[in-house]
Amino acid sequence: MIEVKKVTKYYKIGKIYALKDLTLRFEEGKFYVIAGSSGSGKTTLINLLAGIDLPTKGNVSVDGKNLARMKEKERRRFRLENMGIVFQFFYLVPYLTGKENVMLPMRYSKKVKNLEERARQLLKLVNGEHLTDKKPVHMSGGEMQRVAIARALANEPKYLLADEPTANLDWKNKERIWDILKRINKKGTTVIVATHEREFFKMGDELIYLKDGMLHATENTS
Ligand SMILES: Nc1ncnc2c1ncn2[C@@H]1O[C@H](COP(=O)(O)OP(=O)(O)OP(=O)(O)O)[C@@H](O)[C@H]1O
Ligand SMILES: [Mg+2]
Repeated sequence: MIEVKKVTKYYKIGKIYALKDLTLRFEEGKFYVIAGSSGSGKTTLINLLAGIDLPTKGNVSVDGKNLARMKEKERRRFRLENMGIVFQFFYLVPYLTGKENVMLPMRYSKKVKNLEERARQLLKLVNGEHLTDKKPVHMSGGEMQRVAIARALANEPKYLLADEPTANLDWKNKERIWDILKRINKKGTTVIVATHEREFFKMGDELIYLKDGMLHATENTS
């Protein structure tokens, strides 16, 4: 479970309160959609859940561990082993193939064996078998995003966090990515997706709607 307790995030640059006194709870096995308009704090929240950034006030704990109490190195390892993160702009390594990109986090964590076989299985899971030996420049946006999702799953994370995973894709690819996320969730991974695309607000079990850094509403959508 991820617990967000009275979290405030203040950015000194811009003097902005991106999140204000936010309290939330993410239970295991569920699918959460974090919604809200541009600037409402979605990315800020995803970064705090992942421990990429720390709150100004309040705390975020994952499975009972307060992320702010960990040393930087410990937090990085915890993230590597427990969190899969999918970014809006994919961030694939350009000189590596699909398969090699997926294998990369496994090399660092040493959590899984048979790296190559697992990379192939994960690419299959995202309908990307044909991307195994292709480099990102030869992939479409939807294909790159599928490789990014496969890579996020490499170390068998408990939590999959995705920030606007379909923002730059055409309709067919958007639907495909959401189908894959649903499928991953059905296999037991807790999925948390931030999006501003209304069409997808009710795709999960619970909708968390942010407005100006505050919780505007939650809705059970299962
Ligand atoms: N690193 C930063 N430094 C300073 N201000 C920031 C930083 N990141 C975000 N902000 C500000 O914090 C607020 C929330 O931004 P955030 O990126 O979390 O919104 P968002 O809901 O993800 O928006 P979008 O839908 O456009 O991605 C905005 O006003 C933004 O300008
Ligand atoms: Mg954002």
